[in-house]
Parts: sequence; C-alpha cells; structure tokens
Amino acid sequence: MPILETREISVRFGGHLAVNEVSLVVDEGQITGLIGPNGAGKTTTFNVITGLQPPTRGHVLLDGRDITDVSAHRRARRGIARTFQRLELFGSLTVRDNVLTAAELRAGAGVDPGAVTDQLIERVGLTAVADQRADALSTGSARLVELARALACEPRVLLLDEPASGLDEAETDRFAEILLDLTGDGLGILIVEHDVPLVMRLCAQITVLNFGEVLASGTPIEIQRNTDVIDAYLGQDPGAPG
Ligand SMILES: Nc1ncnc2c1ncn2[C@@H]1O[C@H](COP(=O)(O)OP(=O)(O)O)[C@@H](O)[C@H]1O
Ligand SMILES: [Mg+2]
Repeated sequence: MPILETREISVRFGGHLAVNEVSLVVDEGQITGLIGPNGAGKTTTFNVITGLQPPTRGHVLLDGRDITDVSAHRRARRGIARTFQRLELFGSLTVRDNVLTAAELRAGAGVDPGAVTDQLIERVGLTAVADQRADALSTGSARLVELARALACEPRVLLLDEPASGLDEAETDRFAEILLDLTGDGLGILIVEHDVPLVMRLCAQITVLNFGEVLASGTPIEIQRNTDVIDAYLGQDPGAPG
C-alpha cells in the first residue's frame, strides 16, 4: 500500500512547465529514488508534495487521501517531513538544541521533548557530539542533525533532497545504514540524490525525471539498463552538483 502518491502533478512557472504530469509512489518501509539532470523538476516535485508549491494540476495523496489542498503545516503534522538541498541548521546552537527545537514543536501532552531528542541523537549516531555547536560539525554530521530534526516530526514519509552531497565515502555509508534502519520501522523515504551507486543500493523503485517529465520508472536494474535513461542522465556526469 503506498503511503504517498503523486498523480499527474504539473507545475507551470510562467511559460515554463517545470513539472509535467509526474506520477510516483512511495511505499511503506521502502526507499524510492527520484533522479535526473539538474533542472529536471525534482525539487519542485518535493515542494508540491510538502505543500510549499501548489501544483498547476494533479493530486497528492497520503494514505490514499487527497491532500492537494492541505497546508504545508498540516501535511507535516500528518507525517510528511523533509530535508533541504542546502543545510538549514542553527549554526550557533548545539546539536542537541537543534534537534530539541524540532522535538518541542512536535511534542504532545505527556511527551518529554528532551528524552525524544536524546533518542533521536542516538538513533543517528551523534551522541558523542551532542554538545558541539552545529557550525563546528563535518558536513556528514550536519546532514545527520538535519535528519534527526526531520525525524522529530515523527514522519511516516521522509523526503531527502540530495542528502549525500558533500559527504565522503565513509559518511555516505553511515548515512545509508541509518536510512535502511529507519525503513525497518515502516518509514517510507523519497530520495533525490546524484550519487547513483547510493541510489541503486538504497532504492526499491526509482523514478527518473527529465525536462519535468517521467522518463522511466522501475527497479534499479531496470533503470540502469534503460537506454533513454543512459542517454539523458546516467551516461552524463552524475556527480555534477545541483
Ligand atoms: N520558483 C521558481 N520560479 C521559476 N522557475 C523555477 C522556480 N523553481 C524552479 N524553477 C525552474 O523549474 C525547473 C526545475 O527546477 P528544480 O525543480 O529545482 O529542478 P531540480 O531539483 O531537478 O534540479 C528549472 O528549470 C528551474 O529553473
Ligand atoms: Mg534540486
């Protein structure tokens, strides 16, 4: 059963069709990849799913229910969380306080945000640096703080926009392990990422965008063998930043 679905969403910016009838699915406990060249419409698709960008047409469904007209704030409450392409941490705050501010927003009656924070920090493996300022962290650790902040919203589905950019190989491996561990609890993940080997390793399904349209979708093996995908994306330099 899909947790999250887009049905033929389109976004027009003036005369430019940035997203053109994009349909994709994120299943419970699985990672779906959203890949494609720079400018293909990946971040715009994320913005439509999270409610930051109203689609020109099409629908977004969470647990089979149409949430296209639900505000970004209420979508977050219902379990859609994201991280951003550029890190958005409070540099002068500690790791712990960065996560705590997110946990406090979410905490209901009878929940101790401090305890939730400590659990999340442990879950992403940052206990040793919990008292360090966020601006003193390596990029890898900063990405994990961002992940912990997103998890503080108790998401059912998590959208990650280029989470491995700037990470070295060991940091990428650690990040991948944590993501796979999270899916074990049923979390669905949609990941935009240019690190193709990482996407192939993590994802059950991959959707490839090109010029705003779905070029292909399928398993990692199907995508790697797809000649349209090779011509448009995989044959290029997939490591180019964007
Ligand atoms: N707010 C905006 N206004 C106008 N055009 C935009 C806006 N956001 C993105 N675009 C354009 O939409 C297209 C898709 O952008 P984006 O979704 O950021 O692509 P990707 O994340 O795949 O690199 C690009 O051509 C980009 O220039
Ligand atoms: Mg982008």
